[in-house]
Amino acid sequence: MNSILLRIARTRKTSTIFLALSLVSSIQPELAKETAVSRGKNLFAKATCEGCHPGGENLLHPSKVLKGQNFASRYKNDADIAKVIRSGIRDTGMPSFTREQLSDAEVKDIIAYIRSLTAPPPAPTGSKGPKSSGRPSKANAPTKKLHP
Ligand code: HEC
Repeated sequence: MNSILLRIARTRKTSTIFLALSLVSSIQPELAKETAVSRGKNLFAKATCEGCHPGGENLLHPSKVLKGQNFASRYKNDADIAKVIRSGIRDTGMPSFTREQLSDAEVKDIIAYIRSLTAPPPAPTGSKGPKSSGRPSKANAPTKKLHP
């Protein structure tokens, strides 16, 4: 009898620790990313990108938005986006930005912001707490036969 109580107590403790650990490990990288993304968002406005690309849209060339799966598959590497920012796109209205206008670090933050506009890949598994608790279930108990 006591062993059941003990098992429940132990399970509770384990899941509390598990929950605490998964909270810490899932929040910390979030925070780090948040700063690059929010810095990038500010730079995006300051460098006038926002004027032509409000919220990642494209006012001059509406099909060339900076978000969504189509964009993501055409720009697999961050370096490809950096190249567009550095060189511009001739005769389209997309200007080029020199290192005096935007440092490499600033371009990196802007790219982090642009990436954040596209739905992130599914969250890593194992971040959810255990759904089935250690509570003993009656479901497995043998059912009494009505007509023996
Ligand atoms: C004066 C308007 C204007 C400004 C300012 C501007 N862009 Fe653009 N941008 C465009 C246009 C127009 C295109 C589409 C070019 C084309 O037709 O391929 C474009 C394309 C792009 C693309 C490629 C999109 C694709 O789907 O191929 C990226 C990435 C981009 N811009 C990022 C930026 C960033 C970052 C900034 C700020 C540092 C910025 N743009 C500033 C007008 C602008």
